Amino acid sequence: MADGATDPRTIYLKDYTPFPWVIDGVDLTFALAPRGTRVTSRIRFRPDPDAPPGPFFLHGEDLRLIEARIDGQPVTPTVTPEGLTCDVPTGPFTWEAVVENDPELNTRLEGLYLSKGMYCTQCEAEGFRRITYYPDRPDVMAVFTVRIESDLPVLLSNGNPEESGPGFATWHDPWPKPAYLFALVAGDLVALHDSFTTRSGRHVDLGLWVRPGDEGKCAWGMESLKASMRWDEEAYGREYDLDVFNIVAVDDFNMGAMENKGLNIFNSSAILASPDTATDADYERVERIVAHEYFHNWTGNRITCRDWFQLSLKEGLTVFRDQQFTGDMRGHGVKRIGDAVLLRGRQFREDNGPLAHPVRPESFVEINNFYTVTIYEKGAEVIGMLKRLVGDDGYRRALDLYFDRHDGQAATVEDWLKVFEDATGRDLAQFKLWYSQAGTPRVKVEESWEDGRYRLDMTQTIPPTPGQPDKQPMVIPVALGLLNPNGDEVLPTTVLELTGGQQSFTFDNLSARPVPSILRGFSAPVILERDAPEGEAAFLLAHDTDQFNRWEAAQTLARRAIRARLDGQAIDASWVPSLAAALRDDALAPADRAALLGLPSEEETAQALWDDKRIPDPTAIHHAHEAVRDHLAQGLRDLLPQLHDGGRMPGPYSPDAKSVGRRSLGNAALRLLSRTDDGVRAAAQFAEAADMTQSVAALGALLAVGRGEEQLRAFHDRWAQDRLVLDKWFSLQVGLARPEAAVALAQRLTQHPDFDWKNPNRFRAVLGALASNPAGFHDASGAGYRLLADWLIRLDGANPLSAARMSTAFDSWRRLDVDRQALIQSELGRIQAAPGLSRDLSEMVGRMIG
Ligand code: PHE
Ligand code: ZN
Repeated sequence: MADGATDPRTIYLKDYTPFPWVIDGVDLTFALAPRGTRVTSRIRFRPDPDAPPGPFFLHGEDLRLIEARIDGQPVTPTVTPEGLTCDVPTGPFTWEAVVENDPELNTRLEGLYLSKGMYCTQCEAEGFRRITYYPDRPDVMAVFTVRIESDLPVLLSNGNPEESGPGFATWHDPWPKPAYLFALVAGDLVALHDSFTTRSGRHVDLGLWVRPGDEGKCAWGMESLKASMRWDEEAYGREYDLDVFNIVAVDDFNMGAMENKGLNIFNSSAILASPDTATDADYERVERIVAHEYFHNWTGNRITCRDWFQLSLKEGLTVFRDQQFTGDMRGHGVKRIGDAVLLRGRQFREDNGPLAHPVRPESFVEINNFYTVTIYEKGAEVIGMLKRLVGDDGYRRALDLYFDRHDGQAATVEDWLKVFEDATGRDLAQFKLWYSQAGTPRVKVEESWEDGRYRLDMTQTIPPTPGQPDKQPMVIPVALGLLNPNGDEVLPTTVLELTGGQQSFTFDNLSARPVPSILRGFSAPVILERDAPEGEAAFLLAHDTDQFNRWEAAQTLARRAIRARLDGQAIDASWVPSLAAALRDDALAPADRAALLGLPSEEETAQALWDDKRIPDPTAIHHAHEAVRDHLAQGLRDLLPQLHDGGRMPGPYSPDAKSVGRRSLGNAALRLLSRTDDGVRAAAQFAEAADMTQSVAALGALLAVGRGEEQLRAFHDRWAQDRLVLDKWFSLQVGLARPEAAVALAQRLTQHPDFDWKNPNRFRAVLGALASNPAGFHDASGAGYRLLADWLIRLDGANPLSAARMSTAFDSWRRLDVDRQALIQSELGRIQAAPGLSRDLSEMVGRMIG
């Protein structure tokens, strides 16, 4: 990071040193109470023969130390706000401590806290130090035994249950783990129980624990869990390794979910689903996150990270694995398109702004600020490229070696790359730059055709990013196909390896000048720069065999239409007919056709303008997008009703891929249709809707055209008691509000009796939705900036982690016009000057101001 050098709290990768002791066992006893929970710890330390000696330091924050002993003798450690040091024997010794903490006062949702009467923990990355004194670092792995004392009926922790009786339960986790994977839950909970038999015959009891009232929303999470367990056995040969696997839903949670060993804790929005309360997108998200957390059992838990700089070692890999899983469940084409949309909308933005950082950062102030789209999504892309370069078999061999060699260890990116080198014989020195260089590479492609020889000249450039002015060329796999002018494929997908700054690729013996299909399957997370000849995109939309690039061709056409509108020019007359032809093509699955109807996001348009050295105006961009949607709605007028009708399905709701695809095409059509039919169809669909997918789609279609007041009221009344649906009520209206109305609406909703700002989901449903409505948020008055800054300052006092995450809404400020820049700069300055600002938020603001 740019600013790291000036912040005295900065931690550097290069400063890594191992912990001087090994832990032979940890016993914890919790006497739970809203205030004054007593944690008694007994930790057996032994000097690590392989580590240089050093001081005995245990992390600990916001704890009251009641007593400490070494080998039974009372000691008086030196305590600071960060932890304690103590004189210790030179040989092995047992450390015992009694501390107190106050779950009821914990609004940070890190460490041990209370959510609606339920005790729960969140320890990644550095939350365990808020529970007791401990070497809270991922390379210290130990076997934990936990005793929980409480009158609450359900008492859960990691590993396998041992004893339990009135008022207590004990758990033992045989697998050594770092403290960040510790978890404890206690509450008045009910469970959906099921079981799974691993392929070697281990019987596993599965439990999905929720608060009474949510029992009816557990089935899909459980199905997803069993599917994930099966998939990891089949695709990676990875079996589950305990007798029980528990998932708990909690309403107050900063992130999506957490992979604690044997006891995954989920934000209730990422696990609960029923047809009448969850949309197709929610079902997919539950399936994906359940898989992600489950897959961590091997990639993260059995093999963990040496230090937090290696975070992408577990997160990039686990995202890659969940992407493969979702592809297998729901189709690889649509999945890839969705991932590319996310990457371009969010990761490219991060990578090209003040918060840009490498997949493996070299410094940080607050690790919580590095759970980013770069670590997760770009990290997954890097693994996808690696797999493309070494092939499926090479990938499988490398992964087998990784699990073999590093099981039980805290590994590094070097270890990871070494297994690929050893398993495939490939030198990955240059490839490693993907982990150390930030910024999205640009690949410029020029072509020539002479005497039956076709040549592609490629140039790569990687823009400067904070702290990294100069870059070296990287290894970029460019998947290419060539088509004949008649549409036949003459070169099936071939991976070109672009390794130089400039490189040419030639293709001989072609009978006619081919049409190239470049970067098939989005084979690398790069921006392709190319002046494609007139008509090429329409040709590829009609003929490309690569699903991704067919969609990309439709995007190219849409981008051109948006540009034309922005520049006051006419939209190419061939666009709508070529799109209509694809939409009529019954050989294309409905889900693929639905994707073709999606326009690039306003954020993407802003980035593209900025790349062209133009200053993007969020308001103008919004109006151009709207105009293009109107144009499309007019042009597809005859086709849309039948597409919409195709999304209506008789019978009970099912979240299977085929049904989801049909509904998504139907609802994409409805969204456009509502621009020309006064919202008649959407209103009818809302009135008849039998499930949340149809209901939200109809409401969204109405809101997007400035209607739906009445339906919004009905929706609130119907769902006033369901917090997850109510989140949708908040976010839909803010996200779809007209630019001039969005800020006032968001402001009004923060006064709504149901606005519970301490609940991260609800906060995000209003303020996050505002940030996701660019024209509204960037209102030229600056009112959006002021509103968000006010709330970030307030939230920071209670929950710094969430406040810092949400502050990224400001990270695009430098590409705006000078007036907006000045407005944002003054809000950032106001945040920075707020008394008692957290380390989390101050790091973010410091990096954004630069
Ligand atoms: N490790 C979690 C995941 O990726 C994310 C997380 C990070 C959750 C930090 C909570 C706190 O699944
Ligand atoms: Zn993860």
